Amino acid sequence: MKRIAFFDTKSYDLPTFEKYGREAGIEFKFLESKLNEDTVGLARGYDGVCAFVNDTVNAAVIDTLVSFGIGIVALRSAGYNHVDIDHARGRVCVCRVPAYSPYAVAEHAMAMLLTSIRRIHKAYIRTRDFNFSLNGLTGFDLHGKTVGVVGTGKIGRVFIDICRGFGMRVIAYDKYPDAAAGIDYVSLDTLFRESDIISFHCPLTSETYHMLNAETVKKLKKGVVIINTSRGALIDSEALLDGIRARQIGATCLDVYEEESDIFFEDNSGHIMEDETLARLLFMPNVLITSHQAFLTQEALENIARVTVDNITEFFNTGKCSNEVK
Ligand code: NAI
Repeated sequence: MKRIAFFDTKSYDLPTFEKYGREAGIEFKFLESKLNEDTVGLARGYDGVCAFVNDTVNAAVIDTLVSFGIGIVALRSAGYNHVDIDHARGRVCVCRVPAYSPYAVAEHAMAMLLTSIRRIHKAYIRTRDFNFSLNGLTGFDLHGKTVGVVGTGKIGRVFIDICRGFGMRVIAYDKYPDAAAGIDYVSLDTLFRESDIISFHCPLTSETYHMLNAETVKKLKKGVVIINTSRGALIDSEALLDGIRARQIGATCLDVYEEESDIFFEDNSGHIMEDETLARLLFMPNVLITSHQAFLTQEALENIARVTVDNITEFFNTGKCSNEVK
C-alpha cells in the first residue's frame, strides 16, 4: 500500500480520491495545510505527495521532499506554473492531469460572461428582495460581437465552439497556431484592438506574465469585456483597475487573481481584506469574481481523481509516468 500526503485538501476532494485510491490500493493522508517550505515536513514518511494549484513546489520544497526519499509529486491540476520544473527534473517525477474537462472551464467562462453582461447576479439579489425594477439591468446581445480568444488549446477551442453557437465572430491568438483548426488567427495586437470580448485560455509563463498590462490596456476597444479563467498573473491587476476606472474596460470576469493563493478557496468572510487591489476590484459594479471554481464540476472531479491515481500507480509500477511534466 503506497501512502500519499495530500496537501490543501478541500471537502469536494474526498469522495472521488477516497474511491479511486481504495480501488488502486493507495492510501491518501488528507492534510488541510498548503504545501510550502513551512509545511513540507508533514510529507516525511510518505511515498509521494499530491499538490494543488496554490501549493508551492519550489526548489527548497523539492530538495526536502527528495531528502525524505519521495519520488513523485502528483499534481491534481493541469497548470504547473507553481512548480519549479527545472529544479525537479532528474530529482522527482512531477506529473499532472493534462485534461479533465475543458468543458467545465469553457462553460464557466461563458456563464461568467452572460451573468456579467445580463446582470443576472444583480437581478437575483433584487428579486429575492421583491424588487422587480429593471433600472440599470440593460445588457447587450452577444450575437454579432467579436470575441478574441487568447490560447486555442483544449479549453480555448471549446470556448470558441460555444461562442460560435451564440453567433459571435471569433478571432484568436496563439503562439503555436494550428493551421488546420479552422480558426481565424490574428496578431495579439489586432486581437486587443478588435475584440468586444477577450477571454484568456493560455498558460502562465514568463512570456504571458502580465500580458494585459498598462500598455496593452490602452489598445483595447472601449467597453471591452475581459474574461480570465486561466491564471491570475496573465493580467496586471493594477492596470486592469486603471482600465476600468478610465471606462476603457466595460466589464471584467475573473475566476483567477494573481495574488489568490492565500485568499481563494477559503472562507475569509470574518476577516478584513488585506489585499486592497482585490477589495477595490470587488467593489466595482462591473467586476464579477469567482474563486477559481471554473474546474469544479462533477465530471472534472471524477477525471482529476481517476487520472491522478493512475499517474501515481503508473509511477510506482514502472518508475515513470506518461503524464510527467517535461
Ligand atoms: P492547453 O495546453 O490545451 O492550451 C494552451 C494553449 O495556449 C495552447 O494552444 C498553446 O499553444 C497556447 N499558448 C502557449 N503559450 C502561449 C503564448 N505565449 N501566447 C498565446 N498562447 C500560448 O491548455 P488548456 O487545457 O486549454 O488550459 C489552458 C489554461 O487554463 C491552463 O494553462 C490553466 O492555467 C487554465 N486552467 C484553469 C482552470 C480553472 O479552474 N480556472 C482549470 C484548468 C485549467
